[in-house]
Amino acid sequence: MPKLNENYLNLQDSYLFAKINQKVTAYSKEHPDHKIIRLGIGDVTLPLGSHIIDELHAGVDALGSADSFKGYGPEQGYEFLRNAIVEYYAEHGVSIAADEIFISDGAKSDTGNITDLFAQDNVILIPDPVYPVYVDTNIMNGRNITYIDANAENNFLPMPDKNIHADVIYICSPNNPTGAVYNHAQLQDWVDYALANQAVILFDAAYECFITDSTLPRSIFEIKGAKKCAIEFCSLSKTAGFTGTRCGYTIVPKELVFTASNGSEMSLNAMWNRRQTTKFNGVSYIVQKGASAVFTIEGMAQCKENLAYYQENARIIAETLSKKGIRYFGGINSPYIWFECPQQMDSWQFFDYLLTNVQVVGTPGAGFGKNGQNFFRLTSFGSRENTIEAMERFKKLF
Ligand SMILES: Cc1ncc(COP(=O)(O)O)c(C=O)c1O
Repeated sequence: MPKLNENYLNLQDSYLFAKINQKVTAYSKEHPDHKIIRLGIGDVTLPLGSHIIDELHAGVDALGSADSFKGYGPEQGYEFLRNAIVEYYAEHGVSIAADEIFISDGAKSDTGNITDLFAQDNVILIPDPVYPVYVDTNIMNGRNITYIDANAENNFLPMPDKNIHADVIYICSPNNPTGAVYNHAQLQDWVDYALANQAVILFDAAYECFITDSTLPRSIFEIKGAKKCAIEFCSLSKTAGFTGTRCGYTIVPKELVFTASNGSEMSLNAMWNRRQTTKFNGVSYIVQKGASAVFTIEGMAQCKENLAYYQENARIIAETLSKKGIRYFGGINSPYIWFECPQQMDSWQFFDYLLTNVQVVGTPGAGFGKNGQNFFRLTSFGSRENTIEAMERFKKLF
């Protein structure tokens, strides 16, 4: 009999979306004539831009002739896409080399797989509430987690505690689920703390494209010293509507070098390269062709049109909450609106209240950690019509 990875026994059931679906299905069975509006999901709804579609088609056509056919590609991604990302960062004033960029099928895989590079006995610092992947992948590997509280008192932007040592630090900004975004000075504090502790920051920038305030950092590499202590994960899921198409990238600077117990130097860039070339065979040529279109002038303009649509939805939701006097976070520079449940309800009570009174579905904050217990997440990824209707219904509450 195989000895199993019993760390899996320590995982909490990922019942959040299952429980939501169960409740919604039960409600709609009882009230088949009620129109339910879903503002809970973190998935995009608008179609891909036509420029991206054209390039995806071009990718398909290339595979149909012998002279342009592609078999296995480079595990790290095609040069044309890595170079396009180099340019994208340069436009934001960040200099990255193409061989520091690794193309993948998305940030979820990479934020999970990165745990391969770290030993068991690290101090892993994870904010609460959080995107659950960081927690679960560390539990799968049998690691203990030290949580740091993100709450209304710190605007859901916890800062380093100089009295606690950490080895690996997870930061997500703009944040899922809270929509909070760190500014330069705050990220500089985290980078300084990481350098002082010889720690690594795992920076999830999956929502960087939602930042409209040009004073806010979109990349950890805008921060002085970050190349010596940070890895950045990014995704085309929200930037370009690639949640189903699947493409993301991870940046591992070559300056990220630590000393092993035997005194040898270990480069995280070389380790990640070794990990990917061993366990991953690259993203399809077709998808990378489509992804490269995202970084063209026409492609990015189309992506920005879609982003503006979601941003306006976020504004509409935030405005309604303001008018109701409900304290919220996010909504600007983020597709998520995170707010305090009214009338001392906890997040599941509020979920039921919203569903039964106005047939609007959101996500209870409890699903993201203990500090989400009294908070609720709405997303801006629905249609304009549904967002407006949901907010009209919302206005009639309490
Ligand atoms: C914070 C965060 N990181 C990563 C991801 C996953 O991105 P991808 O679709 O590229 O796997 C998500 C998706 O919701 C997310 O919220």
